[in-house]
Amino acid sequence: MYRTARPGLARLTGADAGTLDGFFEELGPVAENLWREVARTPSAGALMQGPLLYVLVRTLRPAWIIETGISSGYSARLLLEALERNGSGHLDSIGIDVFARGRRPGEGKPGLEGRHVGWLVPERLMGRWSLHVGTSQEKLPGLLEGKGRSLGLFLHDSLHQYPTMSWEYTTAWPALRPGGVLASHDVHANRAWRDFLGAQGLSRDEELDHDLGAVRVPLGPGP
Ligand SMILES: C[S@@+](CC[C@H](N)C(=O)[O-])C[C@H]1O[C@@H](n2cnc3c(N)ncnc32)[C@H](O)[C@@H]1O
Repeated sequence: MYRTARPGLARLTGADAGTLDGFFEELGPVAENLWREVARTPSAGALMQGPLLYVLVRTLRPAWIIETGISSGYSARLLLEALERNGSGHLDSIGIDVFARGRRPGEGKPGLEGRHVGWLVPERLMGRWSLHVGTSQEKLPGLLEGKGRSLGLFLHDSLHQYPTMSWEYTTAWPALRPGGVLASHDVHANRAWRDFLGAQGLSRDEELDHDLGAVRVPLGPGP
């Protein structure tokens, strides 16, 4: 994954190979620890490309990140590990409480009963994290209201269906600062990503690894 993603990350961020290699090296033990925790709960579900987000955040050093789709919190954990290493920044995660308290027994995924959404985020990283339980349609507009263009990174990993993807992209895009990044999982699930890029006149997106797309807000006039 890392070898195939490196050229795309370099083009997207403008970082040189040495810088990226340094971040990939530091990622090694962080990802190994996390995998050990996930492996105890095989149905945890995770954005497999999460480790690339770690490198992206170490490289671009965003002050504010929003992600949609939390599940166990694998991507949240890696984003937060990177912010912590940066020494600055905050993550807002929006997601449905899939392992919900109050669900009927046997309704959730096996092994996840009784766990709260985002359970992979440890106490030591909580200071940089806000968890918003609800759909992106319910929570995102309020988070962005009055914040202007100050978002450094937006990640879509919620419902991979055209209306949700399209709505999240078009809602988040104007909130991204110049040089900020819109990233999305499952960009081949339907035409939402391609249609969005076309509508914005964007041609320089990168597919960092299987289905993880990313595009940067131009540093010029912007959206
Ligand atoms: C692919 S999983 C997220 C995985 C997570 N990013 C990780 O790496 O662990 C997608 C999650 O999005 C949630 N979801 C579905 N529709 C949603 C919506 N409209 N808004 C926010 N979250 C949603 C689902 O409940 C599910 O937990």
